[in-house]
Amino acid sequence: MSEVFKQAKLGNIELSNRLVVAPMTRISAEHEGEPTDLMQDYYARFAEGGFDLIITEGVYVDRKASQAYRYQPGLTDDEQQQGWKEVVQEVHQAGAAIICQLTHSGAQMQYNRFCEHPKALSEVVPKGKPVSMYGTLENWVKPEVMDDLDLNHIMNGFVGAAKRAKAAGFDGVELQAGEGYLLNQFLSTYFNQRKDQWGGNLDGRLRFLLMVVKAIRDACGKDFVLGARISQITATDDDYQWPEGEDGFRYMLEQLRDAELGYIHTHDTAVNRKGFIDSNKSLAEVAKEVEGLQLIINGAITEGNVEDLAAQYPDALLSVGRKALVHQDLPKRLKEGLDIYDLDPTMLEPKATIQHELNWRKINLG
Ligand SMILES: Cc1cc2nc3c(=O)[nH]c(=O)nc-3n(C[C@H](O)[C@H](O)[C@H](O)COP(=O)(O)O)c2cc1C
Repeated sequence: MSEVFKQAKLGNIELSNRLVVAPMTRISAEHEGEPTDLMQDYYARFAEGGFDLIITEGVYVDRKASQAYRYQPGLTDDEQQQGWKEVVQEVHQAGAAIICQLTHSGAQMQYNRFCEHPKALSEVVPKGKPVSMYGTLENWVKPEVMDDLDLNHIMNGFVGAAKRAKAAGFDGVELQAGEGYLLNQFLSTYFNQRKDQWGGNLDGRLRFLLMVVKAIRDACGKDFVLGARISQITATDDDYQWPEGEDGFRYMLEQLRDAELGYIHTHDTAVNRKGFIDSNKSLAEVAKEVEGLQLIINGAITEGNVEDLAAQYPDALLSVGRKALVHQDLPKRLKEGLDIYDLDPTMLEPKATIQHELNWRKINLG
């Protein structure tokens, strides 16, 4: 009896299996940030392939410094909202629920049509080089430091985008507090070197995220699904660890739960990678122990380990990125025991756009 193909719930969303499409940036929107017809087809294909829940790519939330990439979609004006409404309708018609991931680039900005320089908490650039599949920037640009007015604007951006997501028909929103984007930068002692109320100890570094969660809960009501993605790793750094270790992470999750966050979506290079400086547990293992917070786990879930992970985390949903990109009908393939392949990186080269993916399919699969 499969542990994966069991009925499940996320908040009030009913699911016939536990597989979720992980958020994946596809830089395929209009230049002005409106979702395209190609994006409607792309998201609907997962629903047709048996996924009951899809989390969108990271969507920018304001018209100042939140956009990270050229052709990234936004949720900041009526046109963008209308474009998303059409995506949501297609996905709903195809039988799946869809959650919108809300993000702010902070220091991790490669292109922004509203401002020239990134804005961030401190004058710190991300480690490594900008990710080439998302843009053409060669070296990170040193950010300007945000002041309280900027942070106020960002808070309003997140709340405004969440309200627009609800109005567009989304089943919920997920805050991108992982992978090195702004809400993740707050938590990180590498990015956040502030001496004011937004930095310092864990309470200081967690403050802004908690305020965003509470503000969205107030604005969107208690039944709207509200989650957060969280990781120590960033898009360009697999090694960062929070100094407060396992107990610090547990404390973060308890605080988020008490602020009425509905779910936490952990991400590491592998679900069970030992994550902390002071313990042998993974992020997912600690999150599983926190009562009253639903869990989505992510990181190298494959046809080889999915049943074991489903058994180890009986109450969690399992989100899949790369394998879902290769096989948008992954649930059907798993159920029927059909062939499943690894992602060929050339599918995302030179850029991770939907059009490149479709060209790749035509050339390689006929
Ligand atoms: C092309 C691509 C784009 C991604 N974009 C995002 C994103 O927008 N937001 C996010 O939280 N994670 C993003 N990720 C990370 C995935 O959600 C996921 O965490 C990662 O691929 C690991 O899961 P996997 O082993 O199942 O692929 C992206 C990954 C890929 C491959």
